[in-house]
Amino acid sequence: MPSGDRIKTIVAYAHESYSEHEGGQVADYIPQLANADPSMFGITVADASGGLYSAGDADVEFSIQSISKAFVYALVGEALGHNVVREHIGVNNTGLSFNSVMAIELNEGHPMNPMVNAGAIATTSFMPGDTPAEQWENIRTGMSRFAGRSIELDGAVYRSEIANNQRNKALAGLLESYHQITGNPMDAVDVYTRQCSLLVTTRDLAVMGATLAAGGINPVTGKRVISADVCRDTLAVLASTGLYERSGDWLFEVGLPAKSGVSGGIVAIAPGKGAIGTFSPLLDSAGNSIRGQQATAHLSRALGLNVFASNVDSARSNGDD
Ligand code: DON
Repeated sequence: MPSGDRIKTIVAYAHESYSEHEGGQVADYIPQLANADPSMFGITVADASGGLYSAGDADVEFSIQSISKAFVYALVGEALGHNVVREHIGVNNTGLSFNSVMAIELNEGHPMNPMVNAGAIATTSFMPGDTPAEQWENIRTGMSRFAGRSIELDGAVYRSEIANNQRNKALAGLLESYHQITGNPMDAVDVYTRQCSLLVTTRDLAVMGATLAAGGINPVTGKRVISADVCRDTLAVLASTGLYERSGDWLFEVGLPAKSGVSGGIVAIAPGKGAIGTFSPLLDSAGNSIRGQQATAHLSRALGLNVFASNVDSARSNGDD
C-alpha cells in the first residue's frame, strides 16, 4: 500500500471522478430499497494495519444485503471447517443470476455456491445455534466482530423483504425437495433475510474486508475474528463467485476478490494489504453498483492491488497502455 497521505489523495480523486455518473437504477424488488437516494456515493479504503481513508457518504448506513453472504460463509467455515460447505453447497460459479431457479435445476438440486441466494440460504442454515433466534444472534455478533462495532437490523428493510421474498422461499423449498437444506427452510430464509438487513457503512465494509485481508484479525480492534485458513477459503470463493455471472469480467478488470449487494455496496479485498468499501445505489442489470465498480477498478489500479499482477507497474495498468 502507498503512504497514508497518498491513499487519502487517491480516494478523494476516485470519489470526485465518478460522482457525476448517473446511469443505472436503484433496486426496487424489495420495496424499501426503492427509497434509496441515488445521489449517495461513499468510499472507504482500510489498510491491513487499521488506517482508514474515506471520501463522500462514508458514514451513511445502508443494508448490507448480499455482502452478508461472504461473512456468514466465513463464520460457518470457522465453525464447521474447510470441507462442510464445499461438500454440501459447493464453490463453483453458476453462470446465472443471483436468484436463479434454473441454476438449481441444471445442477440436480445442488445450490452450487454460498454467494448465490440458494447457496447462501443453505449456508445460513448451517450456522451454529439451537434455535433460529440463536443462529441470528450468532450471525449478528459475528458480523459485528468483523465490523469492530455492534451492527443492528434495519427493521423496515427486513419487514419489506420478508413480505416480498416469495422467490427466496421458493428457492428454499426447491432445495428442501432435493434434501439440500438442513432444518426448516422457512426459518433459514428468515435468518438469511435478517442478515441481509444489517446496517453498515462503507467504513464498516472496509474494516470487515480488511479483516479478511489481514488473516482474520480485525486491524482496528486487534481481535481475531476467524482463522487465516478460513480467510483464504473465503477469498477463493469470492474471487470465483462474488459478482455472480459477472465474476470473470470483474477479475479481469479489477483483479480482487469482492462481494456486491443490491442496496449498492461493494467490498473488495487485497490479501495482505487491505480492502475497499464503496456505496452507491445505482445498479447495473446484474445488480452490481455502477459507481462502486468504477471506483473500485480505479482504486485497484491506483493503489497497485491487482492480485494477478507480478509487479506494481502491471497492477497499475489497465491493459491499454
Ligand atoms: O435475497 C435477496 O434478494 C437480497 N436480500 C439480497 C440480494 C443481493 O444483494 C444480490 N446482490 N447483488
